[in-house]
Amino acid sequence: MIGHRGGEFKKLYASIQPRLQTLFGTQRPVFLSTSSAWGVMEGALRNLCAKKVLNGMCGAFSDKWFDVSKRCGKDAAALQVEWGQPIRAEQVREKLSTGEFDAFTLIHNETSCGILNPLAEIAAVMRDFPEVMFIVDTVSSFSTQPVPMDELGIDVLLTGSQKALALPPGLALFAVSERAQERAATIKDRGYYFDFVEFAKNQAEDMTPSTPVIPLINALASKLDDIFSEGVEARHARHASLNAMVHEWVKARGFEFFAPEGYRSRSLTCVANNRNVDVAAWIKALREKHSFIIDGGYGKIKGKTFRISNMGDETPETISTLLAALDDTLPS
Ligand SMILES: Cc1ncc(COP(=O)(O)O)c(C=O)c1O
Repeated sequence: MIGHRGGEFKKLYASIQPRLQTLFGTQRPVFLSTSSAWGVMEGALRNLCAKKVLNGMCGAFSDKWFDVSKRCGKDAAALQVEWGQPIRAEQVREKLSTGEFDAFTLIHNETSCGILNPLAEIAAVMRDFPEVMFIVDTVSSFSTQPVPMDELGIDVLLTGSQKALALPPGLALFAVSERAQERAATIKDRGYYFDFVEFAKNQAEDMTPSTPVIPLINALASKLDDIFSEGVEARHARHASLNAMVHEWVKARGFEFFAPEGYRSRSLTCVANNRNVDVAAWIKALREKHSFIIDGGYGKIKGKTFRISNMGDETPETISTLLAALDDTLPS
């Protein structure tokens, strides 16, 4: 192991910054948090919300963000849509027009139900509310499609290591806009571990506030080598074409999509179990016979849906092998 206050670590930290900034679509520094995504999801509220937060909710993770807001002692309001539906820009406008809020949370790609929220349209609305900090989770969409932080005016863009990046869990990555960084400096009781001011101070010296998970940062550097040798655009195109392969399979087998057209995730597919197959038995057979694991529906949509991921390092070969195994084990 190397020391996290020494030259070797600083070199590692500095070496990954430009490529992370490219992936984030930002000129701002990209901070590394030794936590899973929830650390930063909670931390963003502690750093930026003094008045009231609006939580955009359309599935398990975004619903939980509302609960987490309240657990942080924040005054919070729900912008709840039915699971399987996207959050619409006009709904955001209507809520923010009350003038009650100084922060809004959005999960770009709601992993639990395969919803891709209309980020650009919502970002356009956010521009009319400059006092409201726009906090965006891209845990399961980051690097699978462009999310240009600066261009969209996002104040906090965050992701985690173990989903779209296909690294082991334990690292969260995030960037903070200049105005959000200024806001954080005025907010009381930010704590220490997720204090944006501490992150910025340490960043200036290519360091993190507390001891970072150095093995994962090495793994991240290696993953960035992979991403940039494939090419960022080629990576996006690969995810689009793998997603299309899954979609073709869904249609050909007579299944339906849980999300409406135009709002379907590009990194996973949440399939509606309209054929009423025994999903639990199917998944068991898939695991036992082919050693594949897919998810049989999250929380209240367990059994009513199942999910097929095409994120991370999947290839046409791995996806077609998985789809063939699904066919082989599909209960009649
Ligand atoms: C979209 C999204 N946000 C947040 C999380 C929470 O991530 P973690 O448990 O790694 O903190 C997940 C986990 O699956 C997720 O899919």
